[in-house]
Amino acid sequence: MSTNATDIPPCPHAVGADDAEWRLTLAEAAETEALAARLAELVGAGDVVALWGDLGVGKTAFARGLIHAAGDPAEEVPSPTFTLVQIYEGAAAPVWHFDLYRLTGPEEIWELGFDDALEEAVSLIEWPERLGRQLPLRRLDVELTFAPERGATVRCARLIGRGPDWARRVARLEAEHGGGA
Ligand SMILES: Nc1ncnc2c1ncn2[C@@H]1O[C@H](COP(=O)(O)OP(=O)(O)O)[C@@H](O)[C@H]1O
Ligand SMILES: [Mg+2]
Repeated sequence: MSTNATDIPPCPHAVGADDAEWRLTLAEAAETEALAARLAELVGAGDVVALWGDLGVGKTAFARGLIHAAGDPAEEVPSPTFTLVQIYEGAAAPVWHFDLYRLTGPEEIWELGFDDALEEAVSLIEWPERLGRQLPLRRLDVELTFAPERGATVRCARLIGRGPDWARRVARLEAEHGGGA
């Protein structure tokens, strides 16, 4: 076992000193899409948004909300389960929507053109755990969890802005939203 920090894979749960965290409740799918639409105003080329959570929790719904707000609201946004990535035009930058569930290994991400995405596009990544240490450290983590005791359509969301740029944007989103839901 090692205590070297560089050996520790990115953990979706730990919040570092430079990070900002905001927790909120999303009562129904429309609220998830609305949150993503507000985030669309804050993203640009080179940004990485990692969407964590179990099957059916709403990762694709979140991506759809952002893609609709960033570009064409009439665009169909299917889950790129088999293609692994789907590319959309956006007003500020293209949006690359990844679903890495079927990624065979972290290195395969580079074969999909991830270096281009990191240069010129917004990357939305479902199943980011598949990337291991290839997952960029400066990113927004969006963690969605079910809350069955509160209702079938209720989700708990945790936004963690990692690095100063993202921390600032998460704080701004929270302030605009009035602090909670
Ligand atoms: N609060 C909510 N946020 C997001 N999706 C929700 C919510 N409540 C119900 N849903 C439904 O849950 C499903 C989420 O599916 P999807 O976005 O494909 O999940 P994932 O990509 O995480 O597997 C959709 O049918 C959506 O309408
Ligand atoms: Mg999905």
